[in-house]
Amino acid sequence: MSQLVLPCHSNHRGELGAGQLLKWMDTAACLSAERHAGCPCVTASMDDIYFEHTISVGQVVNIKAKVNRAFNSSMEVGIQVSHEELCSGRRWSTCKAFATFVAQGQGDAKVKLKPLSPQTEEEKIEHSIAAERRRMRLAHKDTLKDLLARCPQPETREGSAVVPAAETRVESVELVLPPHANHQGNAFGGQIMAWMENVATIAASRLCRAHPTLSAIEMFHFRGPSHVGDRVLLKAIVNNAFKNSMEVGVCAEAYGQEPAPSRRHINSAFMTFVVLDEQGRPRALPRLQPEPQDGERRYREASARQKIRLDRKYIVSCRQSEVPLSVPWDQSNKVYLSYNNVSALKTLVAKANWVLAREQEKVRMYTLEEDQFLSFRMEITVRITAAQAFSLLSDPRRRHEWDGHYATAELVQQVDEDDAIYHVVSRTPSPENKPQDFVILASRRKPCDKGDPYVVAFRSVTLPTHPPTNTFTRSETLCSGFCIWPETEETSKVAYYNQATPAYLNYVTTNIAGLSSNFYATFVACEKFLLKNKDEDELILRLRDL
Ligand code: COA
Ligand code: ADP
Repeated sequence: MSQLVLPCHSNHRGELGAGQLLKWMDTAACLSAERHAGCPCVTASMDDIYFEHTISVGQVVNIKAKVNRAFNSSMEVGIQVSHEELCSGRRWSTCKAFATFVAQGQGDAKVKLKPLSPQTEEEKIEHSIAAERRRMRLAHKDTLKDLLARCPQPETREGSAVVPAAETRVESVELVLPPHANHQGNAFGGQIMAWMENVATIAASRLCRAHPTLSAIEMFHFRGPSHVGDRVLLKAIVNNAFKNSMEVGVCAEAYGQEPAPSRRHINSAFMTFVVLDEQGRPRALPRLQPEPQDGERRYREASARQKIRLDRKYIVSCRQSEVPLSVPWDQSNKVYLSYNNVSALKTLVAKANWVLAREQEKVRMYTLEEDQFLSFRMEITVRITAAQAFSLLSDPRRRHEWDGHYATAELVQQVDEDDAIYHVVSRTPSPENKPQDFVILASRRKPCDKGDPYVVAFRSVTLPTHPPTNTFTRSETLCSGFCIWPETEETSKVAYYNQATPAYLNYVTTNIAGLSSNFYATFVACEKFLLKNKDEDELILRLRDL
């Protein structure tokens, strides 16, 4: 979708209003979702959006939307927004977003969408990681609740000017008219977002007495529909003002015309605003005096949300090569680190330019050369079911039984059912001739759908309880792990991936160059281990099912 930004789309500063942009993004994404579904679709949620630039009147906004993956009745749609200056031809990336749309069937019947078959490398990566994003999205409410329950009291900010929160309160009513609705008579998600952004901007302006700029919207969920003829009550207030940014909360409720209308809570969103000076630098903001009770709670929660937002932005939106090897482990970032761990491995798996470097009988070794990294993959077909191989390979404490490089692995923390942290000691001597040790996060995933592999991903983390010691040379793994695909009823393809860090480089290159057959011996031992233990494991799986 290409749109020329006209004065009617802009605010008094000649900049495109964020509400209008959200409407276009939602419409473009809805068209894409409906093209795949072949039936009407509604917006279920929108992940965090970070706005990188403002767009001026006269510029052109280009929006690309594409279904990344269809699940059951819902789809993830990826949206990329850029803007261009027509005279110079310059282009900028404005923002990107992921929306979830749900297909609406006739009556109450749930629609079963046809699967999507990704073709290009990029499509395969997005398709694979979409399952991880969905997991994170559906857990979002609980994650937030869990973290908010443990958030400490924020420190009071220094500064003289104090604005009572009550002065920023806004309440406004909109009537849902046919132009606001889609072909089923439901208000467009984008329209609701635009109304919410409008009241949030007014609340933000009342704090700073200047023109605020929207910089981010927190992930949110459309809890229920509103229809033509409904009134939508929008309530906004500044929840907290930090040094250079503020959080505004907005709550949207819908009600009909009946004599004693009951209000339906349809949406709540949290938006971050900044105030920019003439040079585009953020200005310091006055302090907020929250209202008692709910206001004080929201003040605390806004501080916690800011920490979560920054953690998530850092861990989730960074490209893999930009994230340092070891990210400090913290209860508040566990969901994002787990996402980052699995999505990094899935990205590596979906790369198109893997080349077969060596093959020795049944073991194949592939390599992938990229700008900054050399990665390798070892692959073997084993007479074992994928579920059994997954169960046997997902516990690093058993790896020493087949991998001569592993000395010990000790469970440090069972984070949840799918994630655990281990302290691993390797037999491979470091250049200082000390054994190496690693602190790794192991994240396990069963297939989300037919065709998906079982995944066990490893990445290094740092833990204050396990600092580097003199006994070992602390080493790190950025991205490694297993992917296991069922091939037949009885056989599976087991692949081990590693994005080689300096600690592994020598091992990889000597094997590729044919100077060693270590990889072969290790993987044959892995096969033996799997075959020897599969019956024992089958028994455990059966008992678990019972
Ligand atoms: N984020 C992403 N997807 C979500 C979600 C969320 N917060 N909550 C539910 N879903 C997905 C579920 O995973 C499920 O997907 P699947 O079928 O692919 O497994 C799908 O939505 C349906 O879930 P279900 O539990 O059956 O339905 P629900 O009662 O949660 O209803 C909506 C989901 C979106 C249909 C419902 O909340 C709704 O009508 N919301 C308002 C939609 C709207 O009016 N949008 C704006 C106007 S277009
Ligand atoms: P919470 O109170 O837990 O934040 P809600 O969904 O009730 O969640 O509200 C979302 C946000 O909407 C609040 O954080 C607040 O900023 C704003 N809000 C809610 N109620 C009002 C109100 N009566 N007046 C102004 N703003 C409100």
